[in-house]
This record gives sequence, C-alpha cells and structure tokens, in this order.
Amino acid sequence: MATSIFNYCSLLFLFLLLFPFLTLSERCNPSDKKALLQLKKDLHNPYILASWNPKDDCCDWYCVKCDEKTNRIISLDISSSVPDTDFSAQIPDSIANLPYLQYLEFHKLPKLTGPLNPAIAKLTRLTFLRIDYTNLSGPIPDFLAQLKNLDLIILSHNNLSGPIPASLSQLPKLGSLQLDHNKLTGPIPDSFGYFKSSPDLWLHNNQLSGKIPASLAKQNTTRILLQRNKLEGDASMLFSAKKTTEQLDISRNMLSFDVSKVGFARTLIYLDMNHNKIYGKLPEGLNAVENLQAFNGLIGCGAAAGGVEPTTEGVGVGEGGSRGFEALGLAAATSDANVSQGTFYMTCKSSEVERKAPNDPRKWRRKAPNENGGV
Ligand SMILES: *[C@@H]1O[C@H](CO)[C@@H](O)[C@H](O)[C@H]1NC(C)=O
Ligand SMILES: *[C@@H]1O[C@H](CO)[C@@H](O)[C@H](O)[C@H]1NC(C)=O
Ligand SMILES: *[C@@H]1O[C@H](CO)[C@@H](O)[C@H](O)[C@H]1NC(C)=O
Ligand SMILES: *[C@@H]1O[C@H](CO)[C@@H](O)[C@H](O)[C@H]1NC(C)=O
Repeated sequence: MATSIFNYCSLLFLFLLLFPFLTLSERCNPSDKKALLQLKKDLHNPYILASWNPKDDCCDWYCVKCDEKTNRIISLDISSSVPDTDFSAQIPDSIANLPYLQYLEFHKLPKLTGPLNPAIAKLTRLTFLRIDYTNLSGPIPDFLAQLKNLDLIILSHNNLSGPIPASLSQLPKLGSLQLDHNKLTGPIPDSFGYFKSSPDLWLHNNQLSGKIPASLAKQNTTRILLQRNKLEGDASMLFSAKKTTEQLDISRNMLSFDVSKVGFARTLIYLDMNHNKIYGKLPEGLNAVENLQAFNGLIGCGAAAGGVEPTTEGVGVGEGGSRGFEALGLAAATSDANVSQGTFYMTCKSSEVERKAPNDPRKWRRKAPNENGGV
C-alpha cells in the first residue's frame, strides 16, 4: 500500500516536472496580473471587471487579451454596448504598468472623467487608442506624438477642449484621427499638411476656427469631415481631381471660395458643402464623379435602391446602393445658382429630378426601394 502511494506520488512528481505549465503555472504573466489587479482597484472595482478574479488566469479574464506567444497583455478593452453609468473613475496611473499594450479602448462610459493621463505616454507599443463616448476633459495632450506606432486615434464624443496639437503630424503611421464631437478650439494646425500617411481627419462638431491651412493641398485624404465648426476662408485646397477622396464634408462653417475652379476626385461618394458662403457655378468636373451618392443633402438616384444613410459618425452606404447619380446635370442646371443655397438639379438615368436641400442633413431619410427620384 505504502509503496503504491509512493509510486503514485513519484509519477505525479515526474509529470509536474515534465509538464509544469499544465498544472503549476498559468499563461498570465505575474507582473501583468499584478498590474491589472491594481488597475481594477484604481477603477473602483467596476462590475464590468467582475471576472478579474486573482485565482484565475488573467489571460481568461474579460476585457483583456494575451499575446499568443509571449502571453503578455496586449489588449485592454473596457467598452460597454450601452452607456455604463456605474463605471465612475479616471484613467489611473497604473495603466502604465501594462507596457505591452497595443490596443487600448474605453467606450460608452459617461462617468469616465478627468484628463488623458500622461501615463499613457509610456505605452509605446500602442497602435490603437480609442477613448470615446466618455467624459474626458482637458486638452488633447502633446505626448500622443511620442507613440510612434499609433495607427488609429479615436477621442470622439468627449468633453475635450483647447487646440489640436500640431505635433500629431509627427505620427508616421497614423491612418485615422477622430477628434469629432468635442469642444476643440483654434485652427487646424498647418503641420497637418505634412502627415506622411494622409490619415482620415474627423474633426467635425467642434469649435475650430480660422483658415484651413493651404498645406492640406498636399494630403491625399480618403475621408475628411470638418462640418459644424467655425472655419472660414478658402477650402479649395481640399479639392483635387488627382486626390482619392471618398468623403468630404465641410458643411456648416463660414467658408467662402469660388467652387467653379476646383477639381473633384472621381472617387467621391459623399460631398457636402451646404451652409457656407461658397459661390460660383458647379464645375463640369463634377460630371466625372461616377459614384457620388450624396451631394449637399441630396441622395443620389442610384442610391434610391439601397440608400445612403448619413449618421453622426459619417455616412453609411446601404447595400444595393452601389451607384449614385448616373449622370449629373448639376453643372448646366445650376448655372446661376449658388451651391451653398437653394435648389439643385441632377439628371438620373431616365429622368431629371429637382429637389430642395433639406436644412439639416441628419434628417435625410433612407429612401424606399420603390421610391422614384422624387420631386
Ligand atoms: C458627460 O456628462 C454629462 C453630464 O453628466 C452627460 O450629460 C453626458 O451625456 C456625458 N457624455 C457622454 C458622452 O456620455
Ligand atoms: C467638461 O469640461 C468642462 C471644462 O472644460 C468642465 O467644467 C465640465 O465639468 C466638464 N463636464 C463633465 C461632465 O466632465
Ligand atoms: C492618392 O493616392 C492614390 C492611391 O492611394 C494615388 O493613386 C493617387 O495618385 C494619389 N494622389 C495624390 C494627389 O497624391
Ligand atoms: C451667390 O453668392 C455670391 C457671393 O456670396 C453673391 O454675391 C450672389 O448674389 C449669390 N447669387 C445668388 C443667385 O444667390
């Protein structure tokens, strides 16, 4: 009897010796576990982090991900599908103790307040930073420019104020900068003409003022959304037949320039220039834009099949809405109208359509499939 227990124990011992990771250790790196438990405490033990039990492997916890090979924590994603008002905290300093983070997200947490903690500057591996629909306040910090791997910055729908730091243009890999729906003031930095990567710029619904820098002519941006600011003067540098712009919205500013001289990217899907002081005839170049699905609040003919649905986050193109205007009659038809005002004409495949631009572009509706171009 004693012998067999002995044998059993030595077998187990041998087993543990050979496969220690199966039984004795967990994937989670101990220093990451310690950092996460501190973070949980600093966030006041929110319900959303209830699975963060010290007894369990942190690689199995919700809201985090471990790297397959290194087992280090590479993703922290505290996001709620509906606004989580139980979560009440600031971004703590302990976030800096997760140096392998590549992906950091806080989403729909209306009681996440305070500034963007400078501790985030230590997370040099970050490629994705999304803190949106929270109540962060204070400025957009300069230190973001030190995070050279950033591909995506989303700080939309917060309470951020002050100017946009010029230093952001030093981010070599930035693909999209989304700072919309804040209280940002001051001009768009001149340096934004010198991004290496021509990131999408979502700067709409702020209080940006002054002139759009001429340097932006050098950027080949796919989506540029500047609507609902206080920008003035020229915006013609955003237009070029040589660019590959898909969405351009400069509506509801105080822009003033002669639109008859600009070129239009053939790739345009969505263009809104309404509610400015833009003047001039619509240029012939607009006829070459084959896929335009929405213009100044008008929904294109082809889009009637599936629909273009503008949202506060840009524009969603419905299935089936693969083509917009078959041909634009705008240039001829609006020969004496201002583009920022009044009535626009467009020629669809079989009929000419006249519609009045609605005052609020967000009131556009999805058209029923059987609805014609309308009156
Ligand atoms: C920010 O807080 C205010 C006041 O509590 C609230 O009305 C607002 O909805 C919050 N913002 C977001 C994006 O949740
Ligand atoms: C928004 O920021 C302002 C300062 O710019 C501050 O007074 C206000 O309390 C902030 N609102 C919230 C809900 O944090
Ligand atoms: C913009 O980028 C596209 C490819 O992404 C390229 O074909 C086009 O020439 C570029 N235009 C300019 C003005 O750089
Ligand atoms: C068009 O705009 C220009 C400049 O704002 C203005 O002088 C002109 O009267 C406008 N024309 C029409 C038809 O509204």
